[in-house]
Amino acid sequence: MSGIVYLVGAGPGAPDLLTLRAARLLERADIVFYDALVHPETIALAANARRIAVGKRCGKHSTAQQFINKRLVDAAAAHSIVVRLKGGDPMLFGRAQEEIAALEAAGVRYEVVPGITAALAASAQIGISLTQRGVVRTVSLVTPRVGEGEAANDWARSIVAADAGAIYMGVGQADAIAAALIAAGKAAATPVAVVENASLPNARVIYLTIAGLPRIADDGLPGPAVILIGAQFHAHQAAAASANALVDGATEPDDCRESTDPGRVRIGR
Ligand SMILES: C[S@@+](CC[C@H](N)C(=O)[O-])C[C@H]1O[C@@H](n2cnc3c(N)ncnc32)[C@H](O)[C@@H]1O
Repeated sequence: MSGIVYLVGAGPGAPDLLTLRAARLLERADIVFYDALVHPETIALAANARRIAVGKRCGKHSTAQQFINKRLVDAAAAHSIVVRLKGGDPMLFGRAQEEIAALEAAGVRYEVVPGITAALAASAQIGISLTQRGVVRTVSLVTPRVGEGEAANDWARSIVAADAGAIYMGVGQADAIAAALIAAGKAAATPVAVVENASLPNARVIYLTIAGLPRIADDGLPGPAVILIGAQFHAHQAAAASANALVDGATEPDDCRESTDPGRVRIGR
């Protein structure tokens, strides 16, 4: 084996939200295996590389993980610099560990290059800190999605135990998420911000509460979206922070703990 495999985070979507290290590796890469959510301009940085799509998005064609693992090992035997380009950060809900295990088993050198994860991009998009001082000291990053061969776990309890949470890959099961959080003891009136396409020009935000979460099914969110949950995600804070807020007839509660549903505000950026 002569090559090295770089597991590289491409960030949340915007092509300029990429680390310098990632950009330089792409420019030097011989071959790049990239995920579905990676921006075409980011892939284009690998101008001299063979570029291979191996991404998966819900309900669409995907390349089986074991096959990807094998391709990485095979590529390292034939090329000096192999880049495995993943959306966000490779180590957060990115299946990097399976690939690392396969590379280690085959004796292939590897390095991980971090990227900006979706929850941080979403928080930046709306101008509300995930760890707002005085309100939040703990944040739980979860996904209710259960992959093949994985056992389901009680993810909702970790959000109840934390001050705030970010749910990845959850939009398709908003009903079940709301029910699980309420059953686990989270107040139905807890504010929620659903951020779609964070960091991209077509970013959208929907503010509601846990009780109102099932309604996002009606909004049809075709892009990737993260669900942020916590007392700090009141719409009025983001509306104040956004110069071009589009407010859609929502009423604001004075105190979220006394409200059952503060309605909805859309913020466009
Ligand atoms: C397979 S996970 C990969 C997460 C990635 N490794 C990361 O660190 O962001 C894909 C999920 O990330 C979230 N996501 C990815 N890009 C996003 C974006 N630009 N805006 C909002 N959510 C995003 C969505 O919840 C999506 O279903």
